[in-house]
Amino acid sequence: MAVEWWRDAVIYQIYPRSFADSTGDGYGDLPGIVERLPYLRQLGVDAVWLSPFYLSPMADAGYDVADYLTVDPLFGDLADAQRLIERAHELDLRVIVDLVPNHTSDEHKWFRQALVSEPGSVERARYHFVDGRGEGGELPPNNWKSIFGGPAWTRIDDADGTGDRTQWYLHLFDVKQPDLNWDNEEVRQHFDDVLRFWLDLGVDGFRVDVAHSLVKADGLPDWDEEQAMLDGLVGPMWDQDGVHDVYRRWRKILDEYDGDRSLVAEAWVADPERLALYLRPDEMHTAFNFEFLDCRWDAAEYREIIASTMAADEAVGAPTTWVLNNHDVLRSVSRFGLTDPGSSHEGLGSEDEQPDNEAGLRRARAAALMMLGLPGSAYVYQGEELGLPEHTTLPDELRQDPTWFRSGFTRVGRDGCRIPMAWEAAEPALGFSPNGARWLPQPDAYAELAVDQQVGEDGSTWELYRSALALRKELALGRGTLEWVDVADDVVAFDNGPVRVLTNVLGSPVALPEGCEVLLSSTPIDDGMLPTDASVWLRTS
Ligand code: BGC
Repeated sequence: MAVEWWRDAVIYQIYPRSFADSTGDGYGDLPGIVERLPYLRQLGVDAVWLSPFYLSPMADAGYDVADYLTVDPLFGDLADAQRLIERAHELDLRVIVDLVPNHTSDEHKWFRQALVSEPGSVERARYHFVDGRGEGGELPPNNWKSIFGGPAWTRIDDADGTGDRTQWYLHLFDVKQPDLNWDNEEVRQHFDDVLRFWLDLGVDGFRVDVAHSLVKADGLPDWDEEQAMLDGLVGPMWDQDGVHDVYRRWRKILDEYDGDRSLVAEAWVADPERLALYLRPDEMHTAFNFEFLDCRWDAAEYREIIASTMAADEAVGAPTTWVLNNHDVLRSVSRFGLTDPGSSHEGLGSEDEQPDNEAGLRRARAAALMMLGLPGSAYVYQGEELGLPEHTTLPDELRQDPTWFRSGFTRVGRDGCRIPMAWEAAEPALGFSPNGARWLPQPDAYAELAVDQQVGEDGSTWELYRSALALRKELALGRGTLEWVDVADDVVAFDNGPVRVLTNVLGSPVALPEGCEVLLSSTPIDDGMLPTDASVWLRTS
């Protein structure tokens, strides 16, 4: 039987508003993506995952959906989505779309209806509307905080001014992202229809946004501990056992379709064993391995995380995924360029430590070769293949991430990793748009990293990714097995089939074994020694 594609696929994340703008309004769009799809074929990835492009007031860059079955005019229309899926398939690229089931936009028709309906009505029952505490209901129902800052509850007349002040609604994210009530059968049924709609249109799978948050603990009890989502903490709002029923139900729907459709969980949970529960044979197929993304630049930590995540996934028969970047975290080049490399994934502003992007790029390239040498599936976030750093000096007045506003301007948020792509160095907006329009400016450093500066250039980061992807496919590394090799404390070393992967993490130079062939390296190797902060793929047999 053919191996299911999602077991070893390399999936490229497109952040639609920042990929390619075909109209000149400064925002990327679906036709822009279609034009650039051959670029992804050339790079050699197997699939794309698109962040949300649905109708949205864009309070959280589209993760606030007003209608799950409509494309936002900013990005195009449904015919464009259809063309994108068809064109991708012609190029042998699978398409994964984002599904945002934890919350809708406050501009979704359900929420609007809820606001003008009575407490206890079916309209309110689709969300978490709860009476306030205190004599006049003037205190929020519990002490939960929003991930973006401030309380997780809003008293409803703040939203519509009706004067009915009895109830509050829950929003784990922005005030414009009310949480759905997943104990409600109508909510479940609606999402069955949403899945079917996109499956019928031909998508190959879904990336499920905050997959661990849909079900909340009964009674919504207070929680005094930290609850920052990206840190995989526990609490009554995260990772409740009841959530697995939702994924069993979805899995049945996907299994009705041909072509190995798949579900990937975005779930920041406590440990690899809790994550693996989402990957039991009747639930999701894969999950982002955020432990790997969050790993410090430390060989022992890498060995531990690779081993523990693979062991947990193997126990449920699922492949492990590898990821270094996405639209929510500091880009790996800048993360690894911090004084304590990899210690934080929070966005950086001008007042923060400015990373050493040269050292960071060296490490990010080494990390990429380690990642692509591992068995399983891997993710590449747009611009990662160019070695783009974070924009760490974005003027505050341009920031759009709700984190910036809701944290009282104390956390700069995620705009710095969402900067428009760099295509052609000499073109306006680096080729992102036809007329130089761009919703956020690219930093100067992006010009020399643009696609046209790197394709065909020996030693460029783009060529490193392209070669690694080609070799990975040729040697079926994604379907291989890992065997640890003991080289030195500071070296992550393993065999995957005929390839030995070595990554020197902050160690002294190490001699390569005699008689082996260097297939690929993240820095030039000229004296038979692997320098610090570098990776190599060797042919051992
Ligand atoms: C997405 C974020 C988004 C949040 C709320 C996350 O996991 O990746 O970009 O802000 O969910 O939908």
